[in-house]
Amino acid sequence: MPINEDTIEATYLKMQEKLCGIVPEIELRYKAELVYEINRLKVERNAVILGHNYMEPALFHTVPDYIGDSLELSRKAVQTDKNVIVFCGVRFMAETAKILNPEKTVLLPSLEAGCSLAESITAQDVRKLRAQFPGAPVVTYINTYAEVKAESDICCTSSNAAKVIEALKSDTVIFLPDEYLAKNVARDTGKKIILPRKHNHNGLANAVIAWDGRCEVHEKFTVEDILTVRKQFSDVVALAHPECRPEVVEAADFSGSTSAMAKYVQNSSACRYLLLTECSMGDNIAAENPEKEMLRLCSVRCQHMNQITLEMTLNALNHTRYVIDVPQDILTRAQRAVEKMLEIL
Ligand code: 13P
Ligand code: SF4
Repeated sequence: MPINEDTIEATYLKMQEKLCGIVPEIELRYKAELVYEINRLKVERNAVILGHNYMEPALFHTVPDYIGDSLELSRKAVQTDKNVIVFCGVRFMAETAKILNPEKTVLLPSLEAGCSLAESITAQDVRKLRAQFPGAPVVTYINTYAEVKAESDICCTSSNAAKVIEALKSDTVIFLPDEYLAKNVARDTGKKIILPRKHNHNGLANAVIAWDGRCEVHEKFTVEDILTVRKQFSDVVALAHPECRPEVVEAADFSGSTSAMAKYVQNSSACRYLLLTECSMGDNIAAENPEKEMLRLCSVRCQHMNQITLEMTLNALNHTRYVIDVPQDILTRAQRAVEKMLEIL
């Protein structure tokens, strides 16, 4: 919930209560002014702020009206009655909000907030795969741009990928563009994996046809990381996002979307966790669970998510920037794929 206090001082005190030990004191003073101003402008502009779980703690705990993973925020984007949606996340997320709300103004505070997965595939790549594997439905991860969603039958997120594949009731599916998520989902759904750009494929029965896109953050984690931490802390509970390599997911104790991992920590009684995901989320979970210890490999930040700061969010509201637009023909087709996902689950 946002910190909606009447004065900057009261905003600062609330932030201190929540973020003491997580955000340096000197930053809290300065950031309280930004938070106060953002929350004031948000009301004036009739705006809603959606914040992804990877936002830095001083932003995550203070200005978003709703926080969550990609699926939760897509659902919130549909439900809002505000005129302006400020998306504190990356471009594919803001585009999804626009696809679901064509008549609203959707703002992304930085144009640098991309995603290595979304960059890894084009609409033409999808058309080629359809031609190569006729009849196989195309499932695309929400971490793609609108042109790619427009070529797809249905979208999915990290929290519903297996359910979407099962709901299609098709023996063979094309699943794009995350190779590791595809492999993790193939294992969960009992299908074999085919990577058309890497190896020959003999027989398509019961298969997930994948692409070789990678998340530049999650591909850094290794089984070695887990083993090294386990050696030092035998009681550690390891949590891995399904964008991690399959062997990392298998070596972990739990794998799920960013929100699923946060809920796992909230509901579990263990006292020490290793988070194999973007590091800011570890800070955000630590702020909510001060009695639990969050271990993380702290050099691992998403350079794209990291672009979104309180300063940029204030500028977004002040100057109505950066406006996300999707051409109408692409939007209509992409909307079908996203809505189909929201309908069935
Ligand atoms: P979630 O949908 O799990 O929040 O994942 C989004 C993402 O980009 C993870 O890297
Ligand atoms: Fe994309 Fe990976 Fe960053 Fe998520 S963490 S936005 S998948 S680059």
